Amino acid sequence: MTTTNTQTGTNVHEVAEGIFRINTPVPPSIIPGGFSFNQFLLVSDEPLLFHTGPRKMFPLVSEAVGSVLPVESLRHIAFSHFEADECGSLNEWLAAAPYAQPVCGRIAALVSVDDVADRPARAMGDGEVLALGGHRVKWLDAPHLPHGWETGYLFEENSRTLLCGDLFTQPGRGESSVTEDDILEPSEIFRGKMDYFSHSTNAPALLERLAMTEPTTLACMHGSVWRGDGATLLRALSNRLAGE
Ligand SMILES: [Fe+2]
Ligand SMILES: [Fe+2]
Repeated sequence: MTTTNTQTGTNVHEVAEGIFRINTPVPPSIIPGGFSFNQFLLVSDEPLLFHTGPRKMFPLVSEAVGSVLPVESLRHIAFSHFEADECGSLNEWLAAAPYAQPVCGRIAALVSVDDVADRPARAMGDGEVLALGGHRVKWLDAPHLPHGWETGYLFEENSRTLLCGDLFTQPGRGESSVTEDDILEPSEIFRGKMDYFSHSTNAPALLERLAMTEPTTLACMHGSVWRGDGATLLRALSNRLAGE
């Protein structure tokens, strides 16, 4: 693990082959219990960043990306849904990386991104694959899971990594880059305090579709990356939601 900013503790760690987690902890004085924001950098012929981080964190995240590859070499700025921590600094990235394009679902492009972003989005259809030259990512629509009509996820096929955004959000600083310990209980305890789920009736079917990708790495946006039988964990989350 490399710390790229000693003041904030922003750090970079390779969590799967060619996939780097950029983690910035948020001190407990701002969010009780602490919290963290992760972005994922996929190093390929066409490098992709999944989530930009909040706009005010752009200097930290770009410093961290710059420790792995030149920021201007980024080609894709992808994100799950339209919220500040997912895409708040999108235009800063588009300015810093002149060949980069926003990558999101069709609803996100239609409703928000093609209005707000300085360059048009590459709007991904459900099941569409983007070959990056090294990594291959498939877009999976997941409306309202856990929130946001426009929500979707990317599944990286070679490493079987599901970039699962806000699913399994864990409290704390996300100190362990990767864990094999249970993350369902910590994330359920967090959700008990701050329920960020929309409780859409489609959630079980969408979670089943994600489970069918059989991921072995779950790249969580908040907390540690998890390694294990992702299908079983996604179905366990579905059962918890069904029990409410
Ligand atoms: Fe979110
Ligand atoms: Fe988030």
